[in-house]
Amino acid sequence: MAQPTPHSALCTPHLKRLVPLLLDWFAANARDLPWRRTRDPYAIWVSEIMLQQTQVKTVIPFWNRWMRELPTIEAAAKAPSAKIHKLWEGLGYYTRVRNLQKAAQQIVAQQISRRRRGDESQTKTKSETPHVVSYKFPEKFDYVLALPGIGRYTAGAICSIAFNQPTPILDGNVIRVLTRIFGIAENPKEKKTNALLWQLAEELVMHAARLDSSCSSRRKKAHSKFRTSQSLLTSAATIKGSCSALNQSLMELGALVCTPSNPQCQICPVKKLCVAFAENRTEELPNLGKREATTARRFIAFVVEKSGRFLIRQRPTGVVNAHLWEFPNVEATGVNSNPKEIFESEFGSAPKDFMPLVTVKHSITRYRITLEAFAVRLKKVNTKMDGVWKTPAQMQRLAFASAHKRLASIATNRILSDR
Ligand code: ADE
Repeated sequence: MAQPTPHSALCTPHLKRLVPLLLDWFAANARDLPWRRTRDPYAIWVSEIMLQQTQVKTVIPFWNRWMRELPTIEAAAKAPSAKIHKLWEGLGYYTRVRNLQKAAQQIVAQQISRRRRGDESQTKTKSETPHVVSYKFPEKFDYVLALPGIGRYTAGAICSIAFNQPTPILDGNVIRVLTRIFGIAENPKEKKTNALLWQLAEELVMHAARLDSSCSSRRKKAHSKFRTSQSLLTSAATIKGSCSALNQSLMELGALVCTPSNPQCQICPVKKLCVAFAENRTEELPNLGKREATTARRFIAFVVEKSGRFLIRQRPTGVVNAHLWEFPNVEATGVNSNPKEIFESEFGSAPKDFMPLVTVKHSITRYRITLEAFAVRLKKVNTKMDGVWKTPAQMQRLAFASAHKRLASIATNRILSDR
């Protein structure tokens, strides 16, 4: 039977030439990001979870605050739910933070039970302070992959960045870089193409691992030059090893040079080897197929105030933005679209005042949402108004869904200053 021919992208000499170019470029151009100044796998894990679907510049203050408030796996495992949600408030995709905590709890519980069984050396690192036990983030790829909220990309990123293992990574940035370099025109979501991209990512990081064991004097010299001329971070990236640096170079190239539109090909370290550049095809790659259509949705929110307190509710488990707080709101459908009538049918009473407050537009996944908020004063409170009444100071300590956080701040300033 005829063997399938390997894709030409897998031609080894080509791959081998890419790796030193990427490593040298990363050593000279890596951004000084706070999670690149540490080798703590927990800190790197937190950064990778925050960076899913979120830009680096957004993540930085959140990561700094999280690490200050919850500096260890144990602290993350033990933190109250309200605290982890508040620390994540504004980052979105809150399932991420719940899974992060579940995984931390799983790591701690497993190490406690192993310790109870007397297998101490495996499970704890002796701290300089007697009786203080710290919990170790697992190093085995399969164990990491099995943790809640960790998929193949994140497990690969953590194991390569923190432990310098030759574990490949493939996310949107890396897909863009690889499809362009190798001129891959097929849709990367297709099974076969996706498998090829993972294979390429693996070949690259495996080659980087081989360089670590036989690090050429040229690269050693180049890196020691960067070590003295650059910030702490570059040396950290170099010292961590080539697998760590290679994977981060792919992410970094995708973020800084090989961008979705207007890629900076002239300054690209691998332009000599890039098929898309040679054939002027950067605009058409990657071929992501048709975008999913977006759907417009309209919600009406009621900012109900009584004696300096506002009526708010906590979203239930199992829905988008679960556990977060919000003002009472209802989706306006074609049948029922008058805000005041919606209020009356929802709450069973006519308001004393009903004034437009603000309209907030935002998107969640494929939904384009318009949230029209109204400031409401009541004739009297009735039992259909479930929720809790909170002062602005109390609301500040709770985690709100992003659009509702804006309402809370506008409502607090505007309504209370009108009194
Ligand atoms: N995107 C995903 N992981 C990243 C990392 N470690 N650094 C910068 N951008 C990233």
